[in-house]
Amino acid sequence: MAAVTDKEVDPIIRKNRELTAILEVSRVLTTSFDLEKNLTLVMSTLGRLLDMQRGCVFLLDPLSQELRIVAAHGLTKQNIRKGKYRIGEGIVGRVIEKRTPMVIPNIGKEPLFLNKTGSRPQKDGISFLCVPIEFKGEVLGVLSADRIYSSETGGVDDDLRVLKIVSSLIAQFIKLWESYEEVEKEKEDLKRQLKGRYSIENVIGVSDRMQEVFEAVHRVAPTKATVLLRGESGTGKELIAKAIHYMSPRSGGPFIKFNCASIPEGLLESELFGHEKGAFTGAITSRSGKFELANKGTIFLDEIGDLPLTLQPKILRVLQEKEFERVGSDRTRKVDVRIIAATSRDLEGLVSEGRFREDLYYRLNVIPIFLPPLRERDEDIPILIEHFLERFNRENNRKVTIDRGAMQALINYDWPGNVRELENTIERLVIMSRKERITASDLPVSITVRRYKDSTITITQPATLREVEKAHIINALKETGGVQARAARLLGITERQIGYKIKKYGIDVRAL
Ligand SMILES: Nc1ncnc2c1ncn2[C@@H]1O[C@H](COP(=O)(O)OP(=O)(O)O)[C@@H](O)[C@H]1O
Ligand SMILES: [Mg+2]
Repeated sequence: MAAVTDKEVDPIIRKNRELTAILEVSRVLTTSFDLEKNLTLVMSTLGRLLDMQRGCVFLLDPLSQELRIVAAHGLTKQNIRKGKYRIGEGIVGRVIEKRTPMVIPNIGKEPLFLNKTGSRPQKDGISFLCVPIEFKGEVLGVLSADRIYSSETGGVDDDLRVLKIVSSLIAQFIKLWESYEEVEKEKEDLKRQLKGRYSIENVIGVSDRMQEVFEAVHRVAPTKATVLLRGESGTGKELIAKAIHYMSPRSGGPFIKFNCASIPEGLLESELFGHEKGAFTGAITSRSGKFELANKGTIFLDEIGDLPLTLQPKILRVLQEKEFERVGSDRTRKVDVRIIAATSRDLEGLVSEGRFREDLYYRLNVIPIFLPPLRERDEDIPILIEHFLERFNRENNRKVTIDRGAMQALINYDWPGNVRELENTIERLVIMSRKERITASDLPVSITVRRYKDSTITITQPATLREVEKAHIINALKETGGVQARAARLLGITERQIGYKIKKYGIDVRAL
């Protein structure tokens, strides 16, 4: 009983079906924000409730100006792929062009009907209805349906009316979907931009503080400006200096590192500026200094605060004039170098004590970048740990992981040695651990104990393991306001275990 004529159906039943279909269509259109899924549901709903043998939603691609089937009922995948029309082509193309509905009472007698999809083995006796999908005058596509009418009179107007309503519902949904897609895309773009703009290869940092550093690095890298990196030891000053060099137009040139604190004062000048043969005892050949070696590249002057006063005017001159003389020579040499300096010392204090020249200070301090200590950017600790775990696991052929308790302990620790200390800690753990999964109890006591720096309980060395453990539990309980479950989590042990230990050590939780 495929064909049901409208004449055989009671008009009230028929109206009822239409309403049900429209209601159902508006319902399925809001089930998700998936265009194809919703439209396919619409088509199968129409197929089911209105005896529509086949139906398609064609959408107009604004770029190619081609109509493509996005959802269909009663068509195979192959049919769908073939269903492409240009504006003006076939019935579908005409409906788009003229923006008016079209009804073909019997497609077998209609030469315009192309049957491109090949979905109709025999065309005779099939009616084809086609309405534009429009929104406020903008044509978005076409909705089409096949019906078999055993009697060709009547019914078509009803069908057309329903299809027009459905097409306007579809149009509204498409518009909604487009604006939703746009917002989603903008969000994605923004995310990508943020990530892309503030990321530096091999430098880890998601905290706002590090993101600010990355932004500054991106801004100064392309320039020739002198940069002064400030921050405690192990915060990544050298890493950032290298990043600036490799992100700069000088990346093809040398990166020369020089630590002003590492060499006896007497040798500093010749190391930096070179010397001529016989300039001093032991100078058996002439030699170029770091500045010459750094020509066309970058020189990184680490621990600049330790530069002796006697050498400071010479550095100032290179900074300003880019010129100097080798030790034991009158010949002035020119170099093209970018200078990046770093210090962990209180330069302002040194200036006020007269141990660092004020003019040099100002000349160096053109663009200061402050690297925050690790304890002020807890958010970076987990990803740094992941980063180092990955690296040391790879280097050592291991698969060590860290459980939540250990992770929490590492986050709580205040890392006086900053990232360097964290890096060394992870390397040691990976190499030394006999287990694959590291818990808080596998961490060095220095880390798990020292983290309670504000605590009233301090463990005087040497402490027994018992004392350490007891102090540990008391501190964790204090930190969590006596909530055992949270204290247990902090310590990386179970609630049962902490309960047992509280009893064992006779800790009075209420008295804490
Ligand atoms: N943000 C970071 N991401 C990844 N590794 C880092 C980061 N900061 C520091 N490190 C690593 O920590 C160690 C110490 O960094 P370094 O640049 O030598 O610090 P500083 O020069 O401030 O003493 C290096 O091995 C470095 O690669
Ligand atoms: Mg360093």
